[in-house]
Amino acid sequence: MYSEKVMDHFSNPRNVGEIEDPSGVGTVGNAKCGDIMRMYLDIDDNGIIQDAKFKTFGCGAAVATSSMATELVKGRTVTQALEVTNKAVMEALDGLPPEKVHCSLLAEEAIHAALWDYAKKNDISIEGLEDPVK
Ligand code: FES
Repeated sequence: MYSEKVMDHFSNPRNVGEIEDPSGVGTVGNAKCGDIMRMYLDIDDNGIIQDAKFKTFGCGAAVATSSMATELVKGRTVTQALEVTNKAVMEALDGLPPEKVHCSLLAEEAIHAALWDYAKKNDISIEGLEDPVK
């Protein structure tokens, strides 16, 4: 039912933890299942994501998608990070069962929330990024 990549990222999640004094941090949750994901980003002066870490209190698919999402945003610019949609995360994991698609949405939302926090702190706007709490 789950791809090998999903199982791999679930069993050996990459980038678990926190970043002290992050450039941006965002926490999102899904009201239905109660799962919570927090994403930390370290962004340099050129707007490049140097590091990403996450903490997820949630299902296996949420852990796997957070892990893959952090891998995908590292080394990218903040604008490129917006291309790491839930679809992109799912594709990178070789798919998710339909009932688990909402878990990957949490990863996309967590990236957006962390980027929003970064933009707010630096008083900048990132093209294409909207306030995630709106
Ligand atoms: Fe809700 Fe996976 S069951 S995030």
